[in-house]
Amino acid sequence: MGYVTRVSCLLAFLAMTDQLIAPPTVEAPPASWWRNAVIYQIYPRSFADSNGDGIGDLPGISSRLPYLKDLGVDAVWLSPFYSSPQADAGYDVSDYRTVDPIFGTVADASELIAGAHAFGLRVIVDLVPNHSSDQHEWFQKALAEGPGSLFRERYHFRPGKGENGELPPNDWPSIFGGPAWTRVADGEWYLHLFAPAQPDFNWEHPAVRDEFRTILRFWLDLGVDGFRIDVAHGLIKEDGLPDVGSDAEWHLLGVGESPCFDRDGVHEIYRSWRQILDEYPGDRIAVAEAWAPNLTRVAHYVREDELHQAFNFSYLGTAWNVHEQRQMIDESLAAMNAVGAPTTWTLSNHDVVRHTTRLLQRADGEVAGRKPVEVDPVAGLRRARAASALMLALPGSAYIYQGEELGLPEVIDLPAEARQDPAFHRAAGQDGYRDGCRVPIPWSGEVAPYGFGPDGGASWLPQPDSWAGLSVAAQAGVPDSTLELYRAALAVRRSHPALQPIDNLRWVTAPAGVLAFERFADGAPVFRCTVNLGDQPVTVDRPGELLLTSGPVEAGPDQVVLPPDTTVWWSL
Ligand code: NOJ
Ligand code: CA
Repeated sequence: MGYVTRVSCLLAFLAMTDQLIAPPTVEAPPASWWRNAVIYQIYPRSFADSNGDGIGDLPGISSRLPYLKDLGVDAVWLSPFYSSPQADAGYDVSDYRTVDPIFGTVADASELIAGAHAFGLRVIVDLVPNHSSDQHEWFQKALAEGPGSLFRERYHFRPGKGENGELPPNDWPSIFGGPAWTRVADGEWYLHLFAPAQPDFNWEHPAVRDEFRTILRFWLDLGVDGFRIDVAHGLIKEDGLPDVGSDAEWHLLGVGESPCFDRDGVHEIYRSWRQILDEYPGDRIAVAEAWAPNLTRVAHYVREDELHQAFNFSYLGTAWNVHEQRQMIDESLAAMNAVGAPTTWTLSNHDVVRHTTRLLQRADGEVAGRKPVEVDPVAGLRRARAASALMLALPGSAYIYQGEELGLPEVIDLPAEARQDPAFHRAAGQDGYRDGCRVPIPWSGEVAPYGFGPDGGASWLPQPDSWAGLSVAAQAGVPDSTLELYRAALAVRRSHPALQPIDNLRWVTAPAGVLAFERFADGAPVFRCTVNLGDQPVTVDRPGELLLTSGPVEAGPDQVVLPPDTTVWWSL
């Protein structure tokens, strides 16, 4: 059934119920791979280490492609692996067209892309355009050539305030804590919204724009299928870099209007990038990391002639209760639908406390800025599995962060000397505790590094003793393991006709504490997802055959008892 026909069916149905999501207001393009793709985030330094130096690398990832194929994802997104002093784990790039020796070579990247394609997996790479490393050639030239030089114009250099220029040019705080300005030897200051080792580019400068168009082409020519755009909302700053006044809280990721985030000027950059992506064959995409004040502003990044997807951080931070989950799902679908874009769903990534820990610790949905605490691992895992099964049943594209398919918890007791997150060391920053979700993956064996690297090798962050039981080898083939839950969910998602479209969700009346929705194929409800978010078991009538459960249920012939924090999928 074509898109227009589907919309007419939808409209006919709308006449009967107000529970369907709003129809798109613009004609969506034909279905493309990314509209409902499951994309697996690889954090290269923590995925697989081929040479035993304790840091994951590109050949390590290549060696694990069969695992990703078996898991059933459509694409991988790799966090940065470019040349970098690693002041922010690679989000400080010193050369955008080379691979850092700790991760391998450009030839290794080519091999990885070709290998992934041979397995039918697409490859998305990270692009970091808001800032470079302070070791980038341009910044080094800017430092050497001094005030007023041409290279200083490619960054934001300013004289300081105060009698002798001893005060920063404005009052902006860095997201990692402390001021967003650092003074150099000749007395000028430069802007860095993140660490001092990450100076912000001046995107008003044509050379910066040209350079990034060339970088895009370099990786597209190498065969990548798309880009994840780091700090996509940060490139343009308000003219004059005005002070923000008393309350610095606004500054922290997507709170209110800001002189350095989500400025309208960013969109012309993405329109020009879209033209480049469209020049290449094979549906190449870009996904925005854009922390905007609301979903309508986020949707601006995915208008027809801009980027393809934007991360849905509003969903990531939604409280674990029926009312707020349903409201956020509705708002997300409506906001993206209004511009003809798919909604995305994410529960974990390399910047937030893993949802196995977070959803229990912070049922109110807070994601960042809070120290993780130990939670009951059994209850935490139960809730995380229920949330994942809910997420994977939603229309649109889902992002999985490496290790969540193993149910890995946040590691909360890393020694201070092992931590590398610059936010930890600058204190009082964005969250300061991002190392705990970056601990290397356990693949097999009884002792660390659990197959992450060669036996007896190291891992750049210590893995907990308890992780032997969570390894891939320990879970593979074990029916009720988290790995097998993800494999089963992804297999159903790929094959079930109702789980392909992105415009076919209808809420179903459910008992208190329970969220239930159906998905349609050819106008008929053929799939239902029921989630018990309450703290009591709930008995529901069987609407059809059980396809999948996130945990044990008591199944009778006509009714099924769902314990708290349990999701079930039904075929109707
Ligand atoms: C967002 C990335 O996800 C995070 O890890 C990084 O520290 C900042 N951007 C700065 O690049
Ligand atoms: Ca290595």
